[in-house]
Amino acid sequence: MTGFVPKEWPRKLRSQEWFGGTSRDHIYHRSWMKNQGFPGDVFDGRPVIGILNTWSELTPCNAHLRDLAERVKHGIYEAGGFPVEVPVFSAAESSFRPTAMMYRNLAAMAVEEVIRGQPMDGCVLLVGCDKTTPSLMMGAASCDIPSIVVTGGPMLNGYFRGERVGSGTHLWKFSEAVKAGEMTQAEFLEAEASMSRSPGSCNTMGTASTMASMAEALGMALSGNAAIPAVDSRRRAMAQVSGRRIVQMVKDDLKPSDIMTRQAFENAIRTNGAIGGSTNAVIHLLAIAGRVGIDITLDDWDRLGREVPTIVNLMPSGKYLMEEFFYAGGLPVVIRRLGEAGLLHKDALTVSGQTAWDQVKDVQNHNEDVIRPVEQALASHGGIAVLKGNLAPKGAVIKPSAASPHLLRHRGRAVVFEDIDDYKARINDEALDIDETCVMVLKNCGPKGYPGMAEVGNMGLPPKVLRKGITDMVRISDARMSGTAYGTVILHTSPEAAVGGPLAVVRSGDMIEVDVEARRLHLDISDTELAERLADFRSRAPVPEGGYAHIFHAHVEGADTGADFDFLRGCRGSAVGRDSH
Ligand code: FES
Repeated sequence: MTGFVPKEWPRKLRSQEWFGGTSRDHIYHRSWMKNQGFPGDVFDGRPVIGILNTWSELTPCNAHLRDLAERVKHGIYEAGGFPVEVPVFSAAESSFRPTAMMYRNLAAMAVEEVIRGQPMDGCVLLVGCDKTTPSLMMGAASCDIPSIVVTGGPMLNGYFRGERVGSGTHLWKFSEAVKAGEMTQAEFLEAEASMSRSPGSCNTMGTASTMASMAEALGMALSGNAAIPAVDSRRRAMAQVSGRRIVQMVKDDLKPSDIMTRQAFENAIRTNGAIGGSTNAVIHLLAIAGRVGIDITLDDWDRLGREVPTIVNLMPSGKYLMEEFFYAGGLPVVIRRLGEAGLLHKDALTVSGQTAWDQVKDVQNHNEDVIRPVEQALASHGGIAVLKGNLAPKGAVIKPSAASPHLLRHRGRAVVFEDIDDYKARINDEALDIDETCVMVLKNCGPKGYPGMAEVGNMGLPPKVLRKGITDMVRISDARMSGTAYGTVILHTSPEAAVGGPLAVVRSGDMIEVDVEARRLHLDISDTELAERLADFRSRAPVPEGGYAHIFHAHVEGADTGADFDFLRGCRGSAVGRDSH
């Protein structure tokens, strides 16, 4: 029992404010729509469903979404709805500069207005690449009309010379191998095409696959949606069934706020631990929760994730890729495991109208090396660890399952890079005073410092260390890290350096202590010394004078609360604005 009571049907829908009458304005709205050849009865009060499509040829992970939209339309027509495909802002992780994250909030703001200002009764959020999923979910949450997520699905497995090659993960690995002299540049170029051999999003458990899993775990996508490969015929079937389902959701008035409850977020956080999901999920879920007024904090991430073993053996934490995850049974198997372990709010409602438990309780695991039994977990305490201390009073995150166990407790000498340009200028210098026991510190890459908070936290190691066969060092920054990356990398250090967080005053030669088990991140200087350094702090981050960058800098919040804009938090509803004609 979920407590949700469907509304009575039929009733007047919001799209009828535009289409349902005989006034001049109603005629105006219908008449212009008819130039596309729609018959008059599509305006008769049936649900109008916006298919919000992040298709773009410059968002390669979503370049197949026009095809998928046609399948969604089939489903909507079958169920008696009227589909309208609407392009929305699309930010590709692979090419949007300075970083796609800078545009997540812009996309979310645009989507919110696209929904509110136009005749839609429900939405299908057609997404895939990293930022497209949270941005559309944030916009839909702030309008709170019935919405369902359909992701584009991951690429097929990559292979290079017989070995599995994971999107992103092997880009970092091969790049380090070239620096260490273990791979030639020619081989690296040859590997390039092998990483991306079909349409779809990254095939690792990177941020796209993580956010697809988060949408499913939150109950916002149909069960089984996350893992189906982009080119598998079952991806198209999933799109069509989702199109059918959104029509019934509109009739029932089943909204994001009915689904994305505190219980749903707790299910998603635990699921992230079980799948070894991306650290980026922390920021995105905090932001989505803020849109529906659910008070989820970094402490919730640490508390809930601690209880969960990582059982999904996918890169970057493990061995396999999303294709194998799908063949093994995908996310429903993981959610069933959580339910059996007492780690699932079983009654949480989903877009299907069923509870989280009802829709997974009979699924089977078809490969116990891909989805492991708890006794053979990759990490007994998966999830995201949140470290605190005088270096991160508001928290910093690390993904222990992707880190080196011997570095999870470490004391080392800081080697400081003041910003990403300083890092790039000095990292290859053979005279740089650094060895594998040092702690690499990168500043000014947080939301304001590097507008958008770039994925540079997994900064590569110096060549002279790599040549010794060392592949990991402790790294600390206020940046993010690609979900496909790995290593003992402490991220999202808050407050960020650009606003005067303690990270700003670390100096090369200071000693830093990391203790993940104790959740501690400590700069070993006295309180007096720290206070004196902070008193002398002057921000290096330039304030953009105009344009979107100015809005971004003025309003972006810290990573510890989701890096949303201060004026976009909360649900503003879908009340129809005044007609201007
Ligand atoms: Fe688009 Fe990874 S770059 S999903």
